[in-house]
Amino acid sequence: MNKTYYIETMGCQMNKLDSELVMVPLERAGYTKTTDIQSADVIIFNTCSVRQHAEDKVISKVGQLRSRFLKHRDFVLAIIGCMAQRMGQELLDGYPQVAVVCGPGQIHQLTDLIEKAATNLGSKKSRDDRSVALNTSEKSPELEQLDTTRQYVDTKKPFMAFVRVMRGCNNFCNYCIVPYVRGQEQYRPLKNIVDESRRLVEQGVKEITLLGQVVNHWKNQHNGHTQNLADVLHAVHEIDGLLRLRFVTSYPRNFDDNVLQAMADLPKVCPYLHLPAQSGSDRMLKAMNRHYTVGEYLDFVQKARQIVPDLSIAGDFIVGYCGEQESDQQETLTLIEKVRYKNCFVFKYSPRPGTKSEGRFADDVPPEVKQRRLVELLALQSQVSEKDNQALVGETLDVLVEGLSKKPHLDKDSKTPPPADTPQLVGRTGGDQIVVFNGDRENIGQIVPVTIKKTSALTFFGELAK
Ligand code: SAH
Ligand code: SF4
Ligand code: F3S
Repeated sequence: MNKTYYIETMGCQMNKLDSELVMVPLERAGYTKTTDIQSADVIIFNTCSVRQHAEDKVISKVGQLRSRFLKHRDFVLAIIGCMAQRMGQELLDGYPQVAVVCGPGQIHQLTDLIEKAATNLGSKKSRDDRSVALNTSEKSPELEQLDTTRQYVDTKKPFMAFVRVMRGCNNFCNYCIVPYVRGQEQYRPLKNIVDESRRLVEQGVKEITLLGQVVNHWKNQHNGHTQNLADVLHAVHEIDGLLRLRFVTSYPRNFDDNVLQAMADLPKVCPYLHLPAQSGSDRMLKAMNRHYTVGEYLDFVQKARQIVPDLSIAGDFIVGYCGEQESDQQETLTLIEKVRYKNCFVFKYSPRPGTKSEGRFADDVPPEVKQRRLVELLALQSQVSEKDNQALVGETLDVLVEGLSKKPHLDKDSKTPPPADTPQLVGRTGGDQIVVFNGDRENIGQIVPVTIKKTSALTFFGELAK
């Protein structure tokens, strides 16, 4: 019998990685992947809890499966990820169609839980086969094994894989649910990180992105001295066949200079930082419990740019946090001008149950003000990007070619499609800028030099440098 599973992933890179990891034991148990939710025997939603909107989407998807469940009882619905962790039993109690609730610390059990739930499908007898698995704090060798025995899964970004260096977060920013749903910081052994990376490269991976919610917190005691992220970069960098190495997300504190130095010294390490500021106002940063001032953030950015030439920085901001005034918004605009990010992700504050902000401070910025502030920040960032990108016209940049471009970008006005022997390709620079150019199919998976001819806020257009 050919059993199928359907999996949908919401949220951050951690969840994307977790989804790849749970596929391996499922396929070993005889399930094959399908993109058709209607016919799937197993349906998995890997969920995010970071904002209310992310949870609402899941509740609506779960609701859509109710009538099929009541009529046919012919599928197992598993809710995994951060929202599963946050809501737990509540999901089973509220939704008869949900059979398995499994938090991020228990995904090594997922296949067993699904099989157990499948045994009584169809029968109307009491569903004592439904389960909740939620512990995020135990140190489980089986969970670690899921990472170390994974297979490369070719997702939307070919040649690219995420490798976890740590789990959890101890920071407890006042607005954030992540420490509650992902548990305490746990650092993976360096050997496991390197072995896993090496195996991925053997399977065709060219670019590795090391993952952690506070990736620069990674540390390990080794022969009487403390290793940090710089040691991970050095060790993974040595893998033959690896072309590029990145890491996200960086917290703008406890970021050791030797990590910046490693970025400068190691040619495969991309000059790219994802460095969320969250606000440009000291008052807001304090209220958020971020433990740094705008001045300290800017000093770090300046030092990073001194040590790492051509560093490109992406940012995150929250607008409309509790008590945010127009003057705070103005300070955030000023910070965006000063830092000159490559791009910014901007989010409207969403109170999360159980966090300090939710319990202590009022969500007092009206939705339309949040929306206006969000648009303002993005508009300014777009101006910054357009201007800074224009300055790159004429430069030749190294591009890792990801594949054929989906739609024609160059020569939009010309009626003739690009010649078959030089199709339109798309790739990325080390600074994570998207570049479209006419090249050779053979370039796919290689790093090639491309001279930039034209730019927009989000895309570069270029020509293969001779
Ligand atoms: N670990 C990363 C961020 C993880 S969450 C860091 O500390 O930078 C990703 C982003 O979601 C955050 O950077 C923040 O901008 C946003 N975010 C987190 N909690 C939020 C909330 N309650 N409402 C709105 N945005 C939030
Ligand atoms: Fe959340 Fe702050 Fe941890 Fe990032 S550092 S995951 S924002 S608590
Ligand atoms: Fe969301 Fe969990 Fe990531 S809450 S942002 S999926 S760690």
